[in-house]
Amino acid sequence: MTKSGDVFRRPKGMKDILPRELSYFNRIERVCQRLAKDYRFQKVAFPILEEARLFQKGTGLYTDVVEKQMFLLRTKGGQSLALRPEGTPSVVRLYFQEGLKSWFQPVQLWYFGPFFRYESPQAGRYREFYQLGFEILNGESSALDAYLIQLFYNLLKALRLKNIMLEINSLGLPEERQEYQKDLVCYLKNHSRQLCPTCHTRLTNNPLRILDCREESCRGVARGAPQLIDYLSKECHNHFKEVLEFLDDLEIPYRLNPYLVRGLDYYTRTVFEFVIDKGEADSSPSQTLIGGGRYDRLAELIGGERVPALGGAGGVERIIEAMKEQGIKPSSPRKPDIFLAQLGWQAKREALRFFEELRKKGFKVTANFGKDSLRAQLKRANQLGVKYTLIMGAEEVRRQRVTVKDMRRGTQKTIERKKVLQFLKRKL
Ligand code: HAM
Repeated sequence: MTKSGDVFRRPKGMKDILPRELSYFNRIERVCQRLAKDYRFQKVAFPILEEARLFQKGTGLYTDVVEKQMFLLRTKGGQSLALRPEGTPSVVRLYFQEGLKSWFQPVQLWYFGPFFRYESPQAGRYREFYQLGFEILNGESSALDAYLIQLFYNLLKALRLKNIMLEINSLGLPEERQEYQKDLVCYLKNHSRQLCPTCHTRLTNNPLRILDCREESCRGVARGAPQLIDYLSKECHNHFKEVLEFLDDLEIPYRLNPYLVRGLDYYTRTVFEFVIDKGEADSSPSQTLIGGGRYDRLAELIGGERVPALGGAGGVERIIEAMKEQGIKPSSPRKPDIFLAQLGWQAKREALRFFEELRKKGFKVTANFGKDSLRAQLKRANQLGVKYTLIMGAEEVRRQRVTVKDMRRGTQKTIERKKVLQFLKRKL
């Protein structure tokens, strides 16, 4: 509490993460680390703050993320910075700025960390949220699309999630989309009365987004709209066909979704999302756990050079929510076998040393040096469900002995201190 009696609160939508929740985060990050090793992705970190222009140019000026959701700040020097709302433009910037062009190509990078979007907080939508991201820079082959999708699929599988569904579409290239957009706007204008107020604005700014609006009336309009796939060049068609063939070979189930457009401007060709398929019984829209796709033209916007690329990012909180819904627990933390209790000042000194000895020998030992009462320590040992409690009091210290309590049997005996390790080794 402050002097005036105010209690400090964290800012709306920002996070404190307590240990129990953090164990889910750690579990997910560990799975990412393992898959990154298997698929040869190297971890990178980049700043929380970037030039706002990077996202305005990269993510797109009229995307919700940039137009409405960016946390902006101005430095004393007058520079406009943004709390990173996503990672892809940063990774592309890093690729150029750090000279990754000279590395073996394609360059495969991954990241894990907090991102920020100014939204009104609700389930699955936070102002501060964590993303895990995997990006492949400088690779054009359709096999890479399948390789990346396979990684994400295996990530969700490794977390033991069930009913995973991959939705996939191709957005072609911007010049192909222009033609399509003309016909789409023409169609949408004829149905504009059925569109929600947001989609009315999108009609001029970002008509493609109307296709994946969640409002029922807009979904009805979208169902009758011309389809982008019919406007794609032969090359893009083939690329997409190859991706789907690879996915068939890998036996990754997918659903073609012609309305999947994603919310960011840079996508070209393949776009995909992983959702949990809730089945017919549950009609509530599924949250997207992972979203991504190709962004073959983004590098040109940011670094002035052509670097075809692709990637995807998963919302860590959303993945955790799906795990909880399916009753999946993160693996429980290492349970201790031994509790080391101490009584009296001399014993505390001895016990501190003995604790270190046990720990270094690889025993799963715990203690509570903040408590003096033996009763309180034994209570804690019971709560933790340890197998043995070692008790060191003044008498034990004087006689170089330790009292060993077998917690399951409730029996206890006193053993010479130098024989304790041997005894524990035999028993554990
Ligand atoms: P995105 O679809 O904007 O894509 O975000 C990816 C994932 O982050 C979403 O599917 C969702 O799980 C999670 N997410 C997004 N916003 C929030 C939020 N406010 N609260 C909680 N979770 C959220 C991107 O960010 C791209 N950078 C993905 C990508 C990487 N594309 C190519 N490479």
